[in-house]
Amino acid sequence: MAQRPDVMERMKSRVIPVDPFDLVIFGGTGDLARRKILPGLFRRFCAGQMPGDARIVGAARSEMDNSAFRDMVREAIIEFGDADAAATSHLDDFLACIHYIAIDAKGDQGWAELQTLMAGEGRVEAYYFSVGPSLFGDLAERLQKWGMADEKARIVVEKPFGRDLATAQDLNATLATYFDEHQIYRIDHYLGKETVQNLMAVRFGNMLFEPLWNSQYVDHIQITVAETVGVGGRGEYYDKSGAMRDMVQNHLMQLLCLIAMEPPARFDPDAVRDEKLKVIRALDPVDHHHVVRGQYQAEPLNEAAHPGYRTAVGDARSRTESFIALKTHISNWRWAGTPFYLRTGKRMSARSSEITVVFKETPHSIFGEEAGRHRNVLSIRLQPNEGITLGVTIKEPGPGGMRLIDVPLDMTFAEALGDEGDQVDAYERLIMDVIRGNQTLFMRGDEVEAAWAWTDPIIESWEARHDVPKPYESGSDGPTDSIEMMRRDGRQWREVSP
Ligand code: BG6
Repeated sequence: MAQRPDVMERMKSRVIPVDPFDLVIFGGTGDLARRKILPGLFRRFCAGQMPGDARIVGAARSEMDNSAFRDMVREAIIEFGDADAAATSHLDDFLACIHYIAIDAKGDQGWAELQTLMAGEGRVEAYYFSVGPSLFGDLAERLQKWGMADEKARIVVEKPFGRDLATAQDLNATLATYFDEHQIYRIDHYLGKETVQNLMAVRFGNMLFEPLWNSQYVDHIQITVAETVGVGGRGEYYDKSGAMRDMVQNHLMQLLCLIAMEPPARFDPDAVRDEKLKVIRALDPVDHHHVVRGQYQAEPLNEAAHPGYRTAVGDARSRTESFIALKTHISNWRWAGTPFYLRTGKRMSARSSEITVVFKETPHSIFGEEAGRHRNVLSIRLQPNEGITLGVTIKEPGPGGMRLIDVPLDMTFAEALGDEGDQVDAYERLIMDVIRGNQTLFMRGDEVEAAWAWTDPIIESWEARHDVPKPYESGSDGPTDSIEMMRRDGRQWREVSP
């Protein structure tokens, strides 16, 4: 679809360069850096948002010089980033901003060199911990020892942030030894997705929805994050986590908070995070009858390419779930009585993330029995085809009396706004927010702990019962028990559609 010229012009004029910065990426040769962080920074560079005098320092164990690291970055951008832009002179200009230091997170090697590099004044300093959480404490301690954990430093930490409440509390306490909360940026990349922010714009920028946004009018809410990929090469990590720790405790929980929270007084970090925290704290404990766990099976005629979960993780007896569906309630005035259904899984029928608000039926049909009672459904699609659709009931056109049909009022962003909605990947947006010093889209320490406090008893309950996840076919929408769970409540899941 053709870009609307006014939209393109608006986009360009809106890109405000961030202040000069130095960003050190610990784990700079790792998967996340190569797939997301570096290609994302390159896109911001091409968009004119990253200043030409910014410096990006890859820091990792491997011995290599700047030039070898730049080659690695070039390849990563060609493979995972924008190949067309990579063919332009922008890439060489971007690579000129890249440096590399071989560093030992647990020793002294490389730290003096990093200290010298970071000695300049008046620049934003950010340290991205793109490493396992077991190294967070070592890195923080060394940043302090070498004089870099000062007031102007910011650290970015990746999930998993702990594996339960106790480990999350430990991590928070460790980081708090060296940094204040306003210096700690805990990434949940779902918060950087375009539609997730749009969810707040829709809720709090319109008069239309908020008066209906409660249990009096909303029958139930569904949140689905379906993936077609399996665990791939991440089996070792994933088998210790499972869908509950990997997705529900963080991404789905954040979506739930944004859909359910009270209007914050301002769109500022603490106002938003205070409201999200209240939602998590108001969540009811989940009864194990309202949880369905699943594990995907091999794809029948293609087992070699798509093995089953247990083969993929190399444990024939693994009891880790690759799918989970659950029902929960939020015990507060707004939501008492409205169930929230969450569902996520790997190797499902389509890649599709969607939040669906299903309103109650009209109380009475003035058009008679036959016309039936209808309900509005608001669906907020995160990916793919980001957009928002509201199902409304209208008269079926033509003669023959009052027959009603449901039609979608569709706002697919790509259609309504050209490609504007797709321009910025979650990581790009979040890294630029770190440089700007805006924590609104990052999780606060108490939020993470509250999320674990809700998650822990659910996990403990199935551990105590030695619960075995139900097998489900690859390419399906999880075990039939998940459909059954909805059917028992007289409801059904939205179709998972690409
Ligand atoms: C990550 C999980 O946080 O999110 C992965 O660890 C998952 O298991 C991924 O695949 C999904 O992210 P996205 O942006 O592709 O929906």
